[in-house]
Amino acid sequence: MGSITLKNVQKTFGEAKVIPSVDLEIKDGEFVVFVGPSGSGKSTLLRLIAGLEDVTGGSITIDGKDVTEAAPAARGLAMVFQSYALYPHMSVRKNIAFPLKMAKMEQAKIDKKVEDAARVLNLTDYLERRPSQLSGGQRQRVAIGRAIVREPSAFLFDEPLSNLDAALRGTMRLEISDLHNQLKTTMIYVTHDQIEAMTMADKIVVLNRGNIEQVGSPMELYNTPRNLFVAGFIGSPRMNMITGAYAQSKGAATAGIRPEHLTLSKESGTWKGTVSVAEHLGADTFLHLDVEGIGQMTARAGGEFGARHGDTVYLTPDESRLHRFDDKGLAIKA
Ligand SMILES: Nc1ncnc2c1ncn2[C@@H]1O[C@H](COP(=O)(O)OP(=O)(O)OP(=O)(O)O)[C@@H](O)[C@H]1O
Ligand SMILES: [Mg+2]
Repeated sequence: MGSITLKNVQKTFGEAKVIPSVDLEIKDGEFVVFVGPSGSGKSTLLRLIAGLEDVTGGSITIDGKDVTEAAPAARGLAMVFQSYALYPHMSVRKNIAFPLKMAKMEQAKIDKKVEDAARVLNLTDYLERRPSQLSGGQRQRVAIGRAIVREPSAFLFDEPLSNLDAALRGTMRLEISDLHNQLKTTMIYVTHDQIEAMTMADKIVVLNRGNIEQVGSPMELYNTPRNLFVAGFIGSPRMNMITGAYAQSKGAATAGIRPEHLTLSKESGTWKGTVSVAEHLGADTFLHLDVEGIGQMTARAGGEFGARHGDTVYLTPDESRLHRFDDKGLAIKA
């Protein structure tokens, strides 16, 4: 079990109200990602759930039990950090077994649990090695193994992949998703990387200055962002925001169109732009353009779309994919 409810949770450090008030419902078995820019309160919120920080106000319930005042160890959660903090002088087996040893579990049971965890994490062949003889990704898996053997009601991850290189991050992302599919345990995962959020989450919580801007599935946030902040944060490259006459003609203060919802042509279109930078990624080409009457825009073209600095390109928005925002930055319903 691992359902978690936050009611009016607040956190103040000295004078600074870091979390003004958060209400959140996490269902048993859900993969929830907290995403937001640096300093938005992601780690603080996670640490409040873990019990590593005391709340200033509000309540936290796990599986129907109020744990607001409970010590971290009494909450049945396991936390995995960015720095894996393994014991360098111990084998992988002993590192994973450590919390069970501390709990004085009998050895035969420990061996079974460690071997089960190692199998799930593809670490079976590495159990007798020291951490220094492992790659970064393998070390992170050992840290996760140490969390798994405790059979927590939820796993809490704080940017666990940010020390790894891009390729390994991609692989570990899949492994953690796969782990969630196998264990079906609640996971809360903190990241500032919206791609990790989009690819891993059942539910994304977008944080900004300690406030929840929106909660929803990845595609809900992508298709129907509630406000300018979420619209600009989710999606890569980011949504183009257009103000002025064009937005007004749509009854909006700001009109948003994603780079992938612009059609490009060398002959004609709604807007005329000049290519400032063309980024050729192979499958896609991202064009950064100076657009007449609008300013800077980014558009996605197919990999075969040949365009270079200085070329003239016409853009046409798919108006069915246009996002409209009022002067307060809130989405205008269609
Ligand atoms: N112990 C503390 N004392 C005072 N202020 C703190 C403390 N811990 C965090 N803060 C402040 O709370 C705010 C939120 O910090 P937090 O670490 O939760 O952000 P974050 O979203 O995890 O950022 P990052 O992506 O950089 O890890 C920041 O402004 C930070 O300076
Ligand atoms: Mg953080």
